[in-house]
Amino acid sequence: MEQTFLMVKPDGIQRGLVGEIISRFERRGFKMVAGKLETLPEARVLEHYAEHAQKPFFPGLKSYIMSGPCFLMVWEGKNVVQISRDMIGATNPMESAPGTVRGDYALEIGMNVIHGSDSVETAKREISIHFTPAECSSYTRIDEVYLYE
Ligand code: RTP
Ligand code: MG
Repeated sequence: MEQTFLMVKPDGIQRGLVGEIISRFERRGFKMVAGKLETLPEARVLEHYAEHAQKPFFPGLKSYIMSGPCFLMVWEGKNVVQISRDMIGATNPMESAPGTVRGDYALEIGMNVIHGSDSVETAKREISIHFTPAECSSYTRIDEVYLYE
């Protein structure tokens, strides 16, 4: 089954949004298979955001992401990568649709509450950066018989 990497960023932790965000993904039918609260070390921020390292916004992004703990998760389910991105909303909250996480809880691109992997390949890379296989659980949710045909 497809997996994605989701991370509530420091603003989401400070604003008490972790439970609300987890609920959204749980109720959609997705399954959390790993989760931990952690202040990211610099080396992992550089690896995670390698594609943005040369961009002008990177210093601000790095200090924001390292400003406090994040909540890191692996989620599993049918088409979870794309559906999570849809549930998260556009990168700039000014353009995020109402009903999305960013569209409901954020106002600025530099503090947009949550990260989600942008492709299946990216998800594999990001999961391996932040979690060991031993940290990821494999289990059946009791409602799966009413989620999947
Ligand atoms: P994310 O990786 O965090 O899920 O966000 P995303 O795919 O929607 O956006 P991405 O282009 O990957 O950018 C990563 C994060 O960098 C910050 N950013 N700031 N000031 C700016 O122009 C700017 N552009 C991007 C945002 O925090 C964005 O989520
Ligand atoms: Mg991204």
